[in-house]
Amino acid sequence: MTTTTDSAGTDAAPAYPTVRTGCPLDLPPLVGEMREERPVSRVTLWDGSRPWVVTRYSDARQALRDPRLSADLHRPGFPFISPVQKVQQNEDLPVGFLRMDPPEHTRQRRMLTAEFIVKRMQRMRPEVDALVESLLDDMIAAGSPADLVDAFALPLPSLVICKLLGVPYQDHEFFQEQSRLMIDQTAGVEKVLAAREELRAYFDRLATHKASHPDDDLLSRLVAEQEAPGRLSHDEVVGMAAVLLVAGHETTANMIGIGVLNLLEAPGQWAALCEDPDLIPGAVEELLRYQTVIHTGLPRVATEDMEIGGVTVRAGEGVLIQLAAANRDPRVFDAPDRLDVRHPARQHLAFGFGVHQCLGLPLARMELQSALEGLVRRLPGLRVTKPLEELGFRHRMNVYGLFELPVTW
Ligand code: HEM
Repeated sequence: MTTTTDSAGTDAAPAYPTVRTGCPLDLPPLVGEMREERPVSRVTLWDGSRPWVVTRYSDARQALRDPRLSADLHRPGFPFISPVQKVQQNEDLPVGFLRMDPPEHTRQRRMLTAEFIVKRMQRMRPEVDALVESLLDDMIAAGSPADLVDAFALPLPSLVICKLLGVPYQDHEFFQEQSRLMIDQTAGVEKVLAAREELRAYFDRLATHKASHPDDDLLSRLVAEQEAPGRLSHDEVVGMAAVLLVAGHETTANMIGIGVLNLLEAPGQWAALCEDPDLIPGAVEELLRYQTVIHTGLPRVATEDMEIGGVTVRAGEGVLIQLAAANRDPRVFDAPDRLDVRHPARQHLAFGFGVHQCLGLPLARMELQSALEGLVRRLPGLRVTKPLEELGFRHRMNVYGLFELPVTW
C-alpha cells in the first residue's frame, strides 16, 4: 500500500481510491481494514489533498444527516476523486442540486419529487416490464453467448431514462457514450469536458424544442412549470436534465450487471430466485448492500469544526462517506461478507441518506426488480462464460461494475 505521512508526522494517509487487489466482488482490502482499525482516517487523493474517510455504518449515517457537512463543490476543501471533477469547481455552469446545500437544494429537489413518487413508478412498471421483455427477446434471438451488459444491463436504464425525460430513443447511443465518459476517472479531462459540453448542448436544444412542442414527459414539465414562470433558468433546466441522466443511468446499469454476476457466483443464490421469484424485492436490497456500486465515497466538506466517530474534523476539511464499507459493517449486518437473498438487509445505505438520499430510488428499485424477474423467468440456466479474473471490472470509475458480462443460457 502506498502511504504518505502528514505534515505533523502523526498518521499515515494511504493513496485513495484503491483497487480491489483480491476478489473483485469484495471490498478493496484497504477500506475493510480502515473500517476495523481506524474508522475515520485520512487518505491522500490524486491532488495531494487529504480528506477523511468515514467507514462505519453508524458514523456514515450520522454524517449524512449532519448539516455541518456540505455537498457544495464550490467550497474550498471539497474532495475531488479525479481531476475531471475538480474542473467543475471553477466553472460558471449550474452544477445541479446533487452538489448544492439547502435551501437552494431543497427548492430544486422539490420540483422533481412528484416525478419519482412510488405510485408514479408503479404506473410505469408495465412499460418497464415490456422493455425488459423486448430486450430479452432480442438477446435470445441473437443467440448465446451474449454480453449481458451490452444487450441488457446498459440499454434498459438508458431506455427508461430517455422515456422519462422525453429524449428520442434514436439518440440513446450518443447518450450512453457521453454519460459513460462523464464518470470515467481514467479518460482525460479534455475528453470528459467535451462529453459534458455535448450533453449540455443536446439538452439545450431539446429543452428549447419542448417549449414549443410540449409532450407528456419530465423535461416538458420542467420547461413549462419551472422555466416559463422564471423559477429556473434555461441553463438550470439543462443542468437538471443532465444530472438525472447521469445519476440514473450508469448506477442502475452497473447494479444490474454486477448484481447478476454476484447472484451467479454465490452458491445457490440464482437458483433460489428461479425457484421463488417472490424473493426478488428482498434480493435487490441485499445486492445493493453487498455490492454497493457508489464505491469511492460520497464527497462532503465540513463547514465548522465537528466530531465524527470520536475524531475531530476541522472546518474546510474534506470527508468521503464510504457507503460500500458501511454496508458491510459487521456491527450492523450479520455475516456481512456473504450474499444471502433470503436475509435481505433493508437499512443499507446504497442510496445514501439524509437530504441528498437518491431521488430516483423508487425508479431504481422498480427497474432492478423488473430486470431480475425477467431474467430468472426467461433464462433460468444463465451462466457466465469466463472466470472472474478474466472479466473487466470498473475499478477506476466512479460507479463500480463491469465493462462486459459474457453469458450463455
Ligand atoms: C441502483 C441505482 C442507483 C444507486 C445505487 C443510486 C445511488 C445514489 C446515491 C448514493 C445518491 C446520494 C449522493 C450524495 O448524497 O452525494 C444518489 C443521489 C441521486 N440519485 Fe441515485 N442512484 C441510483 C439510481 C438513480 C436513478 C434511477 C435516478 C433517477 C433517474 C437517480 C437520481 C438521483 C438524483 C437526482 C440524486 C441527487 C439527489 C439529491 O442530491 O437530492 N438515481 N443516488
